[in-house]
Parts: sequence; C-alpha cells; structure tokens
Amino acid sequence: MTNNNSFDAHREDFPIFSDLKDAYLDNAATSHKPYSVIEAEQTFYERYNSNPLRGFYPLSLEATNQVELARDKVRGFINAKSTKEIIFTKNATESINTAAFSFCTGNLKRGDKIVVAVTEHHSNMLPWRSAAKLIGADIEYLKCNNEGEFTAEEINRCIDERTKVVAVGIVSNVTGRTAPIDLIVQRAHQAGAVVFADGAQSVPHMKTDVQALDVDFLAFSGHKMLAAMGVGVLYGKEEILDKMPPFLTGGEMIDSVTLDEVTYAQLPSKFEAGTLNAAGIVSLGTAIDYYNSLDIEKIRQRELLLTKRAFEGLSAIPNVHIIGSSDHTDHAGILSFTVDGVHPHDVSEILSSDGICIRAGHHCAQPLLAHLGVYACSRASLMFYNTENEIDKFISSVSTIRQRMGYKDV
Ligand code: ALA
Repeated sequence: MTNNNSFDAHREDFPIFSDLKDAYLDNAATSHKPYSVIEAEQTFYERYNSNPLRGFYPLSLEATNQVELARDKVRGFINAKSTKEIIFTKNATESINTAAFSFCTGNLKRGDKIVVAVTEHHSNMLPWRSAAKLIGADIEYLKCNNEGEFTAEEINRCIDERTKVVAVGIVSNVTGRTAPIDLIVQRAHQAGAVVFADGAQSVPHMKTDVQALDVDFLAFSGHKMLAAMGVGVLYGKEEILDKMPPFLTGGEMIDSVTLDEVTYAQLPSKFEAGTLNAAGIVSLGTAIDYYNSLDIEKIRQRELLLTKRAFEGLSAIPNVHIIGSSDHTDHAGILSFTVDGVHPHDVSEILSSDGICIRAGHHCAQPLLAHLGVYACSRASLMFYNTENEIDKFISSVSTIRQRMGYKDV
C-alpha cells in the first residue's frame, strides 16, 4: 500500500531529479517524465520507426500497433466507450480548436449562443470566440465569484435554450478550483447544448470518467501528465464526432478522393490528418501505465496533502493573498497568490534565487485575472513527486520576500 511518504521514493523514477536540485513547483505548465516514458519514446525510434497507419510491411504495422495500443490505454484511463472516441492531436489547444471549429461550423447558426466560462485558459476561450465570429454566434461568459466558484444561479442564468455549446475547464489553471461539471452538464443537456470540458489541469491529477461525467468532449495534453510534449487528446462522444466535419484535411483522413469529391475516413482517422507524433503517443501510453501502477486515487490524496501544507503555510504569511477559495480542498494542487507591493515577476525571481521554480504573470487567463481584479500573480503548482521539504522551502522563501524588497513590516 502506497502511503504519503512512500511517494518520495518515486522521485527516483525521474532522471531529472538526479541533477535538478531546485524545487520544481511549475507542474501546471508541464510535468517531468519518468525513465519508462523517456525510454518508450526512444524505443519507438530505435525499433519501430516507420509511418503508422500507412504501410503494409511489418515495421509499419508494428508502428500502427503501438499507436493503437496507446489509444486503447487512453480510452481506458478516461473510461471512454470506444477507441473511435480518442483522437490524437498535438496538444490540448489543437484538440479545442478541432472541436470548436468542427462542431460549430457543422451545428451552429447565426444567433446561437456559446457559453464560455470566464475562468478559461485563453486556449479554451479564443477558439470558441473565433468560431462564433465565423458563424455569427454570440458568446456569453459564465462568471465565477471571487472564490472562483460557479453558483447554480449563475449556471441557470447563463445557459439557456439559445445555448449550443458550454466550454469549461474542469480545474482552473489559476484558482485550482474544480467546476461543478455535474450541474453544468445537467443544465446544458436540458437546454440541448453540448459540454466541452478542458481537462488539461484535471486529467493528470484526478480520476476522469467521461461516461460518468457525461461531458460531450474532453481535451488534455500528454506533457502535463508525464508524457512527451507534442501529443494531445480530443475525446468526443462517437455519435457527435461521427456527424462533425473534419477540421484539418490532408493525408490519412480520407477514404477516397477524386478531383471533385472526397469521402472522409471513419473515426478517429477523420480527425487525424497528417503524420501523427507516434513516439509521443507511445510515451503517453507508457505514462498511463505509470499512473496505473501508482493509482490515480492515491496520487490525488498525496497531492491534496501537499496542497494543504502549502496552503496553510502561505495563509500564515502576512501580506500574502491566495487567489480563489479559502478552503484548501478546493485548490487541487494549484496555489496562485499575490504579495502586497511586490510584482509577481520579482516574487518569481526571488524564489528562483532560492532554488524554487514557479510561474508568474497572467497564466494565459487574462480575462479571469481582470474579473478577479488581479493584474498578475505568482503560481505554485504541485505534482505527486513533490516533497514536504520542497513545500517548506517554498513557504520559507515566500515569507522573506517583502523584507528582501525593502519593506520594514513583513
Ligand atoms: N497552460 C499551462 C499553464 O497554465 C502552460 O501554465
């Protein structure tokens, strides 16, 4: 049985920690990779390198097999019904653009409404805005309160009969708060709308069951969940994806082409134009094996404990303000904060000089920061391989910042 401290031993699975002495608290930006994942990517190039889904010779068939094995692991990890519902892209951003343009051009008309949560990363906001502009649809924002919470009243007000799509992140990359997906899905489906969930910050950290959530689409990136950069996933319900037009067109996504006509391939190929990042896809399959060996529920518990420690430490420092909920259990590994009188870039540089890596700025969520009345902030984001010592080092460093910036009252 894996207890909280036994997770420390898993740092040895990650080559970067044998050299990196800094406390890496920027996991929401990207995660580190275990040996097994790095080796899987390398092995693909050493043993199976050929273009998957194209050749009929053994090497290409094995490359195809490797991709399809990974697809089935992704399917199992999020409990999708079928591998036809798992589309490989290059990242969550490409997954969102694919769904936004394809679903909206195929299903929306002028005057329809797309609801986008104000908490969204730009990548789950701008594609919907561009698609809306193309079609003449309207955008309405689902607003959160100062604690980053969506109330039932706001959900009911915002999602109405004109709404065709609701785009919402499961976990905000700024507040770390989990959206009430059940309420949103219920209301959206009642209104006849589909729900697009951005899982970039949730899939790596908590159990995801697309059938239980009943979301219509889900996007996430491999690199935030131990896999290589350059591979993402778009999940969509088969009956919806089936009726959508392709987004990117070109090689490998057709059945037949004449000079005048084209018949597109079946799912998932219809949405996978061009050569896939097969080695990256294989690395994602191996990352999922690694997650399964640790158990995502235990990972979640470990991260919640680390979050509690960081939350309590930060809360006790005068002139430091945590953004979002005042309850640590709402933070899911993400703690964004401001330090009175100190620019977040200075906060980040001081922490960096103490060997702590965090992110500072607007976190690609400028509308959310404006909504919360914050210009910019610093963000620590945790992963199961972080240690209590790293959290303590972080808290101790933050507690000295104002003094080091020349303030007499810390
Ligand atoms: N989306 C990533 C983040 O929030 C890059 O840092």
